[in-house]
Amino acid sequence: MTADEAKRSVDDLTQQINYHNQRYYQDDDPEISDYDFDQLLAQLIQLEANFPRYRYPDSPTQRVGGTITKAFPTVYHQHPMLSLSNTYSADELLEFDQRVAKALGEAAYDYFCELKFDGVALSLRYEAGLMTLAATRGDGVRGDEITANVKTIRSLPLRISHPDPPASFEVRGEVFMPRTVFDRINEEREAAGEALLANPRNTTSGTLKMQDSAVVAQRSLDCYVYSLATEDVDLASHEEAIHWLEKQGFPVSPTYQKCATIHEVLGYVAEWEEKRRTLPLDTDGVVVKVNSLQQQRVLGNTAKSPRWAIAYKYPAEAARTQLLSVDYQVGRTGAITPVANLKPVLLAGTVVKRASLHNANEMIRLGLHDQDTVLVKKGGEIIPKITGVDERQRVSGAQPIDFPTLCPECQTPLVREEGEAIYFCPNAQGCPPQIKGSIEHFIQRNAMNIDSMGKETVASFYEHGLLGNVADLYTLTYEAIYSLEGFKEVSTNNILSGIEASKQRPFANVLFALGIRYVGRTVAGKLAEYFVAMDRLEQATYQELVEVPEVGDRIARSVVAYFEAPDNQNIVQRLRAAGLQFAHHRTEQANLSSRLNGKSFVISGVFQSYSREDIKAMVGQHGGKVVSAVSGKLDYLLAGDNMGPAKRQKAEKLGVTILSEQEFLTMLA
Ligand code: IVH
Repeated sequence: MTADEAKRSVDDLTQQINYHNQRYYQDDDPEISDYDFDQLLAQLIQLEANFPRYRYPDSPTQRVGGTITKAFPTVYHQHPMLSLSNTYSADELLEFDQRVAKALGEAAYDYFCELKFDGVALSLRYEAGLMTLAATRGDGVRGDEITANVKTIRSLPLRISHPDPPASFEVRGEVFMPRTVFDRINEEREAAGEALLANPRNTTSGTLKMQDSAVVAQRSLDCYVYSLATEDVDLASHEEAIHWLEKQGFPVSPTYQKCATIHEVLGYVAEWEEKRRTLPLDTDGVVVKVNSLQQQRVLGNTAKSPRWAIAYKYPAEAARTQLLSVDYQVGRTGAITPVANLKPVLLAGTVVKRASLHNANEMIRLGLHDQDTVLVKKGGEIIPKITGVDERQRVSGAQPIDFPTLCPECQTPLVREEGEAIYFCPNAQGCPPQIKGSIEHFIQRNAMNIDSMGKETVASFYEHGLLGNVADLYTLTYEAIYSLEGFKEVSTNNILSGIEASKQRPFANVLFALGIRYVGRTVAGKLAEYFVAMDRLEQATYQELVEVPEVGDRIARSVVAYFEAPDNQNIVQRLRAAGLQFAHHRTEQANLSSRLNGKSFVISGVFQSYSREDIKAMVGQHGGKVVSAVSGKLDYLLAGDNMGPAKRQKAEKLGVTILSEQEFLTMLA
């Protein structure tokens, strides 16, 4: 086939497939069989593989995936992805309305109501009409780039139909797995004897992070979009934005409604409370937005959420059932969690057999007795919980259920700190689930990343006496592992090399891996940065600890207590001897890019989308350096609002480039 012929065939097949996709998905009126369609697609896939230069950026072949993504790169959002403040009552909605009215003075305003879709937030960027980037929300400031996976969502246009598309725009929406798809997957899993998936939301989230987009394509994800950000389209209201999105072929749930008053909003809320169950996806409330974009700007945002919008959450669904028994689970930190075993009951579409009882205080509040009839509630993704007891139905002579005084696993008397609701088993070094849990925590990806071992390996090594704490990992021998059933040469070597490699993990990860109560990844990072070396941290006093950013009283006490315990001192000493990284090196932090390498910045003023701290961190993560004074050597002055005029004048005089926030973000994009 000549290049010309190939080009013509690619064009022809692309057109045909687009046409048949339209007939199938939009018109619901297919003209050819699935088999014939697959044949066309297979031909195009083959041609594109042979002549990649003729592949269109919005080729229909991208819908079937096939791209393998090893790691999802981090991307910064052009505007942070905020969250919504929640309300649970009509009164709170009325209060919201009063706040809006007050802030807008005399001006008239109206609302736009949408359902709150219970899926995974998505940000999409289009340039010249083409989908160029899709990202998860992440922490709101930066997320994961998941473009290849999102392109498999058939309802999202790869190219919009506008004849003269805007230069760029950003669309946000919610990816979801339709209930029917979720139920079908679970039926198949049940038939295959596999563990069932918990709920559509978690499944969607997991699916979006799959490495093979061909597998994502098979999962039939869908999406509803609910916001548009662009300077290239003239829009006065959210309503206009929604209509524009509909016109460009974006999937918008037809459930929205413009409301002239908060009373109309309350009507919408009431109307959808039951009706929402007929929709193809889970919804957990209503999002109320001030319609005018200009008024949205006047109202502005708090650090976390817009003042022009609010989410009304429907009350969690409840069911009644009988309590069968209570289990007491011991976590890795020794915390005891009571879990109720229930007579199976249908709740919000799933069968519930277990529910959380939280802690001892909660059990006292409930006054739980044997075989009680209990009220179970479920809100969104949360594990169902017991919220009440029907005392009238209590079986006569039923005994109250008392919280145990001894650890159910090792019979050590439980303790509870003053003012705390949670009981702990203090036998950290001798209580089996704590030992195994602390080792599992230590080897996990975010900690020491010993991925050649898993939960089962830990359990087996523990049961055979090979592991009694995390330091024992570093004295494991080939012979000891190899002698266990199921371990061959390759698996034994894999484990040992995984352990060896973990000695290079940065100090912050080591700190997190130790599993000090309340020291999560962020706090571990702050401690590593502040104290730089383990011996300084070991000796740190309570006073020094509370000086560290993000460290408060509770964390400081916990860190001091950890290093005071002789058992922990021994473990830390052995880890030091094994050669783990016990000091923080600044260069260890992998940068996100080297775009700003060697460039110096002065950051001044207040920024629209990011806090100053965020911006400083972003400069560092891209290889740049933040300095405090404007000088002739300075590369950039990053100017926010309300920056002092003297700084600007000095920068202008010295010929330093002055950047706006938007220009800075464009540099990173
Ligand atoms: S508007 C500032 N509209 O709810 C956030 N969000 O708690 C503006 N969500 O992360 C978002 N349905 O993922 C908006 N109709 C809707 C929504 C919606 C679901 C999610 C969204 C966001 C979260 C905020």
